[in-house]
Amino acid sequence: MVQLSERPGTKKITNLQDKFLYELGGIFDAENRFLEAQQLMWQYSQHPELKSLIEAHIRETEQQIRNIEQVFSTLKQQPQRVTCDAAAGLVSDGQKLVLLSSDNPKIVDLVLAGEQAKVEQLEIITYRGLIKGAEQLGQNEIVQLLQQNLQQEEQTAQKIEQLKPRLLEEARSTGGKSGANRSR
Ligand SMILES: [Fe+2]
Repeated sequence: MVQLSERPGTKKITNLQDKFLYELGGIFDAENRFLEAQQLMWQYSQHPELKSLIEAHIRETEQQIRNIEQVFSTLKQQPQRVTCDAAAGLVSDGQKLVLLSSDNPKIVDLVLAGEQAKVEQLEIITYRGLIKGAEQLGQNEIVQLLQQNLQQEEQTAQKIEQLKPRLLEEARSTGGKSGANRSR
């Protein structure tokens, strides 16, 4: 169980705006972690379509971070990261999987797509919650900024789902065999 003392800067939540700001700080932290992770993923990826999808989403993530900063400033707050343990965990799980599969680039591509898909689902759920929160606070400008981010995450998630069967097929025609041989 995490101790609050290990999370400096997190304040008590006593109202809906506090809760919104906490979760905004969480996605701000998550997006920054994912930006860094995607830069590494781009380097690891060998599949041209996956590589260009990641590259495009890196640009979008940079814009999303600016949108979040804009949300903070609309609320007259300094942008502040609140450690997102879920994001940190996804990133380290992904790193472990990439290291374990590094002998087979086709499996690495499949792993990267799977990890990116998990990240998008976390972001989608988080933005949906934040949009509801901003609606409660009557902040229409913020709703619009967050909706831009949500839309990009949903589109990225969809593109990955479309690409996954091909990555799986390519991994099966190469990597699948080497795995099966080893176990014999
Ligand atoms: Fe994303």
